[in-house]
Amino acid sequence: MRIAMASDHGGFELKEQLKEYLKGKGHEIVDLGTDGEASVDYPAYGKRCAEYVVGGGADKGIVVCGTGIGISIAANKVRGARCAVCASETMARLAANHNDANLLALGGRTTSFEEAAKYTEVWLSTPFDCGERHTRRVRAITEM
Ligand code: RB5
Repeated sequence: MRIAMASDHGGFELKEQLKEYLKGKGHEIVDLGTDGEASVDYPAYGKRCAEYVVGGGADKGIVVCGTGIGISIAANKVRGARCAVCASETMARLAANHNDANLLALGGRTTSFEEAAKYTEVWLSTPFDCGERHTRRVRAITEM
């Protein structure tokens, strides 16, 4: 799968770890920054990654900031983005299965690499429930 990734400084270390992990699993990674520990503003990175995914540059996107919250709020301003902050395997599974989340947000200061890798695997491997109920709700979000 082709996966776009972006982070601010608070998510940089986890982004780098996750990037290498996913490459090792055979995924193609598009790294949209940031490139180091220097302080940057997360809205630009959330927007950049969401636009890249919605524009068709990647199948899915992963964004990381300190908590995953700020960068997900920014990503979700992009029409067509469904970015879910996940802090458990259940959240990761339901983000894919119920919400058809095309972006996953993680907290570099709140989530260990092992947890993040697990949540990512669950999110990537869980299909969307294409039934009428969830399709209707996702469509309603897209149309807002
Ligand atoms: C940056 O210090 C921090 O505010 C950011 O990474 C993120 O946690 C915001 O939601």
